[in-house]
Amino acid sequence: MKISDALELISPRLPTGTLRQRRLRACHTVKDLRTAARSLLPSAVFDYVDGGADQELSLETNTSAFERYRYLPQVLRDVGSPDTSGNFLGRPAALPLGFAPTGYTRMMHPEGEPAAARAAAEHRIPYVLSTMASTSLEDLAAAPGADAADRWFQLYVWKDRELTRGMVSRAQSNGYRVLEVAVDTAVSGKRLRDVRNGLTIPPALTLGSLLDIASRPNYWMGMLRGEKLEFANVRSDEPGGHTIEGISDQFDPTVNWEDLARIRDTWNGSLVLKGPLGPEDAMRAQALGVDGVHLSNHGGRQLDRTVAPVDLVAPVRAAVGDSFGIFVDSGVRHGSDIATAIALGADACFVGRPYLWALVAGGEEGVGHLVRMLTEEFTRTMQLLGVGSVQELRARGPELLHCHEPAVMRTDRPGQERKSPRWMSLNN
Ligand SMILES: Cc1cc2nc3c(=O)[nH]c(=O)nc-3n(C[C@H](O)[C@H](O)[C@H](O)COP(=O)(O)O)c2cc1C
Repeated sequence: MKISDALELISPRLPTGTLRQRRLRACHTVKDLRTAARSLLPSAVFDYVDGGADQELSLETNTSAFERYRYLPQVLRDVGSPDTSGNFLGRPAALPLGFAPTGYTRMMHPEGEPAAARAAAEHRIPYVLSTMASTSLEDLAAAPGADAADRWFQLYVWKDRELTRGMVSRAQSNGYRVLEVAVDTAVSGKRLRDVRNGLTIPPALTLGSLLDIASRPNYWMGMLRGEKLEFANVRSDEPGGHTIEGISDQFDPTVNWEDLARIRDTWNGSLVLKGPLGPEDAMRAQALGVDGVHLSNHGGRQLDRTVAPVDLVAPVRAAVGDSFGIFVDSGVRHGSDIATAIALGADACFVGRPYLWALVAGGEEGVGHLVRMLTEEFTRTMQLLGVGSVQELRARGPELLHCHEPAVMRTDRPGQERKSPRWMSLNN
């Protein structure tokens, strides 16, 4: 090769775009977004997002439960123009994916809830605002761009029922389409990382966090420049006030099905229950006029050692029939996880941490990057499976999916474990 030919091969690539764009271009997976978020957040804030309750066993098995499933694709089926559109209780979406409610989102990034909701609107997927949000339901409904999103509101039933009723009517009058009642928070889960880190909300400037300023200056600059952090759906003079302890004290362990019946009577829109619901609870909700269930263990942040929500999809679908809404979250990290959930019988999935990491990594642009990444992964999975639409994936799911159980299983004789993986068809 002549020197001039060799020189042609060397084309120095100068970095283009903003720092944020370059960071996002280097993120090819949800795991990459998590790594980026870790490098930008103070460790206590990163742990607040990342961590789970107690021994974090639910947290761990949420992702590994998805990874146990294996596909048996069907070939030669013309998958030239796959239709990835989903449906959320009668409203079409570009993808069977939504953003789950997360409290205090502006602690992760000053653009907060409006940025996540704007990205959801732009990509035509639903966004659920939390009771514990750092943007009020009125402000989100009025935020340019976010107002166009399919907006849901997640409700905690509080000790002060007047406050709860007030929130339901505010959600109604501000155009929220779906009310999602979280039923997994009779009491607050114990997140040991937060306890050990001494995390307070809002984060306090302690000696530890002052040291942190040196290593995460942009985070602290963003926080100091941004609006005051508060639980925006509650006035500071209302019960619960503006502290995490005050709010957690408002969780009511006496909440029961009668409260739900009252909510059903007052709420005119679609109603969904969010929590780790088994077939019996799902049928009871259906009988009460609830429109769907959002199977979730709060991303492993409440009761530890719960069944992974993805494993509840098939039994709950069998119990409630075809037309009842089934959504699932906790552990969705790849487009193929969405495909697995649908093949098991879900209508759609939600994600929590992945969009928070994306928000940290790149604000609204980062959240858009995540949706494009998951869309691409989901589309490719559908094509390689040999299915042309989400409806087809759900209908043919049992033929396409097998469950791979890597767990060590006991034989009759104690002490002799069978270590080889067992393949089990879901039809069995
Ligand atoms: C930082 C954080 C805050 C959350 N806050 C709420 C909340 O206020 N209300 C709620 O119902 N769920 C909340 N969740 C749970 C999410 O809605 C969702 O169920 C969970 O994140 C899904 O699991 P994943 O993070 O593995 O996707 C929160 C989750 C995280 C990570």
